[in-house]
Amino acid sequence: MTVKVLFVCLGNICRSPTAEGVFRALVEKEGLSDSIEIDSCGTADWHHGKSPDPRTVAAAKTRGYDLSPLRARQIKPEDLNHFDYVLPMDNSNVTNIHAIAPSDYSADMRLFLHYADRFTEEEVPDPYYGGNEGFSHVLDLVENAAAGLLQHIKTQHLS
Ligand code: 4NP
Repeated sequence: MTVKVLFVCLGNICRSPTAEGVFRALVEKEGLSDSIEIDSCGTADWHHGKSPDPRTVAAAKTRGYDLSPLRARQIKPEDLNHFDYVLPMDNSNVTNIHAIAPSDYSADMRLFLHYADRFTEEEVPDPYYGGNEGFSHVLDLVENAAAGLLQHIKTQHLS
């Protein structure tokens, strides 16, 4: 079986590509790439087809993640039935997803930081209008939640 995971933010150029790249690297490291499908998207279409923000790419690179192949896309209603896990970065993403979701969608949707255990924050803050420290903090949160998410998937689906 394949477990399908979708990370969601607003623009799909900062937070959710970071989550996709970090989680993809972790899954590859554990040899589980054939068992887990991974994607990311934004609720807005502003950056459709674009690479992640250069600040996001640079911050990720300092920790060994290559986000340069990723391209932004907007979420679509079918995503809520295709993916098993839909993981928004903040509560405004949740509101935006609910606005387009089919009424009978099957995905397990919860804030991504539900899977973090070293932070009390509920939301991954939007770093777009801030300084470089914001991008580094996104990586701290995302690395912790990615590890928790993979542990959850292994326990629930792959053991
Ligand atoms: P993201 O960040 O949702 O983490 O990709 C943002 C990217 C772009 C914009 C806002 C947030 N924007 O206003 O264009």
